[in-house]
Amino acid sequence: MYYTNTRTHAFIMARLVWFAFLSAILTLSRGNDRPNFVFFVADDLGIGDVGCFGNDTIRTPNIDNIAVKGAKLTQHLAAAAVCTPSRAAFLTGRYPIRYGMVGMDQPATCIHMSEPSGLPRSEVTFPQLAKDHGYRTALLGKWHLGLNCAWAGDHCHHPSKFGFDYFYGLPVSNALDCDPDAKETIGQRVAQILSQRLRLVEISTSIFVVILALKYLKYIQWKTVILFSVFASSLLAYPHLRQIGGRRLNCVMMRDDDIIEMPFNISTITPRMTLEAIKYLEESKTANEPFLLEVSYWNVHTALLPYKEFRGKSRHGPYGDSVEEMDWSIGVVMATLERLGLTDNTFVYFTSDNGGHIETGDEGGSNGIYKGGKGQGGSEGGIRMPTIVQWPRKIKPGTVVTETTSQMDIFPTVADILKAPLPQDRVMDGRNILPLLGGAKQPSPHDFMFHYCGEYLHAVRYRPRDGNVTWKAHFVSYNWDPGTTGCSTLFLCRCAGQEVTHNDPPLLYDVTNDPVEDRPISASSDPTYSVVIEAIKRAVGDHVDSLTDVEKQFGLSNFFSRPWLQECCNFPFCDCQENVDLSSLQIGG
Ligand SMILES: *[C@@H]1O[C@H](CO)[C@@H](O)[C@H](O)[C@H]1NC(C)=O
Repeated sequence: MYYTNTRTHAFIMARLVWFAFLSAILTLSRGNDRPNFVFFVADDLGIGDVGCFGNDTIRTPNIDNIAVKGAKLTQHLAAAAVCTPSRAAFLTGRYPIRYGMVGMDQPATCIHMSEPSGLPRSEVTFPQLAKDHGYRTALLGKWHLGLNCAWAGDHCHHPSKFGFDYFYGLPVSNALDCDPDAKETIGQRVAQILSQRLRLVEISTSIFVVILALKYLKYIQWKTVILFSVFASSLLAYPHLRQIGGRRLNCVMMRDDDIIEMPFNISTITPRMTLEAIKYLEESKTANEPFLLEVSYWNVHTALLPYKEFRGKSRHGPYGDSVEEMDWSIGVVMATLERLGLTDNTFVYFTSDNGGHIETGDEGGSNGIYKGGKGQGGSEGGIRMPTIVQWPRKIKPGTVVTETTSQMDIFPTVADILKAPLPQDRVMDGRNILPLLGGAKQPSPHDFMFHYCGEYLHAVRYRPRDGNVTWKAHFVSYNWDPGTTGCSTLFLCRCAGQEVTHNDPPLLYDVTNDPVEDRPISASSDPTYSVVIEAIKRAVGDHVDSLTDVEKQFGLSNFFSRPWLQECCNFPFCDCQENVDLSSLQIGG
């Protein structure tokens, strides 16, 4: 009896130990097995600015190294050619037109911290998906998808509402205004646009004359005249106020919900973000939790003010210096992953939000062989992004993906990696590109891609399942300045109105064999033309049917800030600096 009892005891103990051992292994492997994600997003970087995409004078060894160890995507497209809608599409996997991030005949973005527009709360992002699956998530750097809706501090569009546990960075953007010695500012641009497009001065003056006449004829009271005068003069003074206050009020850094710096010091932002990234990776390692980190650089948007160690070091002035600063930072993040033993199971993605801003000359990047640039949603130079992905577990070194892929594909690709179902209550425009990244020889998962400029459909791509050609039809073209592929008098090409040309019949190119789009397919002599255009027109019909009526985020009213939405770190001074010790960083190439 005694004997049996001991045996039973020993048996139970052994089983308990075995169970404990098994569950420990399971927990550990669960923690270690779930891949991590690091997304690097550059601002306004052209496809021709990166070494592995053919640049031989800017030094980007760290970015190039990711391509050597992973996959280079040569036809990876942004859904818009300006920051705000492009970033919205990247995070949501959906065309900006589906949730109203379009407007007017200008390619529109959020411009003030004090405007109510931004990514609608009904949108779901892939960082949210990761967070819902137990990931730690963080955004370092530029957000540019809105902040407040009804009052200063409601943070209805804040990154924390879209899946980021931690935010350290710029709620708006770097901009010309942010340079303390700026010669030209966004305020002046706004003034120019207002007077060019809306003729506010003329309209206000003529209404004023009418009001005075009504007063003279005794139809109205003095009170009305005075009220109207105040209103009209604030409209007229607005651009100038924006110019004076622009830097202080919009060039702002936040940590989570707090404003920590206004106006920000651009030059130290990239080193500071780099320190934050190191800290975040170390904490994630210690916590033994999977993480999703987005590092969203101000580089290389004007004003170009990299840290002092990078100034004058490149062969392309402040622009090249800023690219090399970003490359340095990426190198530090990659080295940190390596040091922490995380490289093998981390999905690393690098891209830019839109093409180089060619109208700014030396201050804008190169879009390589492609025509057009920032602002031109229908031009290859505006939307073909220098993109690379590394994930040693699944992607072979030196992979090249030439088929059409999109930044919107990241959402469903992340979902596939997480084994998470896609939201079923909405149209998802992105597709899972894991098979292509894994080296599968198959056509793009996109039969059609729709290239928008603001709310206008300018071009459509078509990849028939058979053969190996991708077609691109241009319904609308930009009226470029002679001898260029930009609109220098306008700062950015417009999406509609007098500055575009409607192509009837549409221009059609084989972008596989003619990526520069020099040789349009003849509508009259090539029978393929009508077959392809017919298929595209049917697809456009289906696409348009899938759109629903939504509130537009960018309209005329966005040119006017709402003072009650403006946040300030220490009202009324709005003047704060963050002090960070950068001495632990090895800064420079
Ligand atoms: C490299 O980038 C610089 C800066 O954008 C540009 O001026 C130069 O033309 C590029 N070189 C190539 C080969 O594309």
